[in-house]
Amino acid sequence: MPLADDLRRQFPSDFVWGVATSAFQIEGAAHEDGKGESIWDRFCRQPGAIADASNGDVACDHYHRLDSDLDLIAALGVDAYRFSVSWPRVQPLGHGAWNARGLDFYERLVDGLSARGVRPYLTLNHWDLPQALQETGGWAHRDTVHRFVDYARGLQRRLGDRVAAITTHNEPWVIAVLGHQSGSFAPGLKSRKTAAQVAHHLLLSHGLALRALRADGARAGLGIVLNLAHTEPATDTPADRAQARLDDARGRRWYTDPLFKGHYPQEVLDELGADAPAVEPGDMAVIATPMDYLGVNYYSRAVSSADGSFDAKRSGLALTEMGWEIYPRGLTELLLTLHREYTLPPVYITESGGAFKDPLTADGRVHDADRTEYLRTHIAAVAEALRQGVPMAGYMVWSLMDNFEWSSGYAKRFGIVHVDYATQQRTLKDSARWYREFLAARAAAAA
Ligand code: FCB
Repeated sequence: MPLADDLRRQFPSDFVWGVATSAFQIEGAAHEDGKGESIWDRFCRQPGAIADASNGDVACDHYHRLDSDLDLIAALGVDAYRFSVSWPRVQPLGHGAWNARGLDFYERLVDGLSARGVRPYLTLNHWDLPQALQETGGWAHRDTVHRFVDYARGLQRRLGDRVAAITTHNEPWVIAVLGHQSGSFAPGLKSRKTAAQVAHHLLLSHGLALRALRADGARAGLGIVLNLAHTEPATDTPADRAQARLDDARGRRWYTDPLFKGHYPQEVLDELGADAPAVEPGDMAVIATPMDYLGVNYYSRAVSSADGSFDAKRSGLALTEMGWEIYPRGLTELLLTLHREYTLPPVYITESGGAFKDPLTADGRVHDADRTEYLRTHIAAVAEALRQGVPMAGYMVWSLMDNFEWSSGYAKRFGIVHVDYATQQRTLKDSARWYREFLAARAAAAA
């Protein structure tokens, strides 16, 4: 495919291509082999919390299908697989005793990847906090920061010499704001003050974990994954432009300024007033501990209007099934903004992809041309950032396979592999075939 060839040639040979998942979204086996309860296990049982009233009890049954799923990953020809560890599976109460069977599972996962020539990118926290820690205050409680550091150290002891990267947190904004302010995600709390404190504790635990893991002799690269949008004003009026600057500060710089500059954006602190987080002396320096890489999850742009009147449905851009605008140019813009504002470590796009309708057709295939186009144009957007000097290191598709999409349940499909939840059969969608060809062309060129 000439298009794939042209695109592929724009990336250096050591650029890392991958696919991504997270534990709660695919593993299932929610109550097996000594796993503890997570806040997502609990949240799914709250009436109305999940659109299709589903839960993660079975999900993609990945826990029981590890070997064949690893074969599937390897067959795509990717360099890397990004996955997360379920904290309550390896440490059921979030402190104290470790669960040997849980640790064994991740050891088989990591060794199975390496045996297949795929580099493991491990995330410590993709949202499924042990419920026992929620009972004592969860991320709003400063103690949880230290529990997280112990968990990180324990995992590194067991797996640290065999993984390429350890990410502390996936998308702290989502945990803080959706989990503790809007309440649409676990643990379902609704307080702006709590959300601000949670964000601070997530960042603090990230920095402390980096320092502890390095003191213990870390071999893997260490970093964090942020969900970032490119924020634009709806119109060119001063009011909309001011709104866009404030929204960008709330959603993006609230995380990137502390990580790269060691302080929170003043305008957001001013806005929070008495809801601003309690910060102890030394916290900000810990948060700014240098990282080996930054992970960016990008799905769409954000549009700001002072009167809140912007409606994506009328923007004229195509939308995914999530209602998110398809806007690859925003990815280039975002990366250029980050490059302009900070001295960046290598940057990975750790999630990129879209939910589309995806029917299995009579020929046993899923003709998801819209997803292939989404991936192609977003990869091209990364190539453009690279051309303009952003230190891009890798790109990972969200997601390897259809899975439990949080409060949307199983209705939204992000996979490049289709999952039939009744039979657990996996079928490569056309987008997976395209990605495989794209990567194969690259392997051929390197040979
Ligand atoms: C991100 C999450 C990931 C997935 C995608 C669609 O916010 O990190 O788990 O749900 O969105």
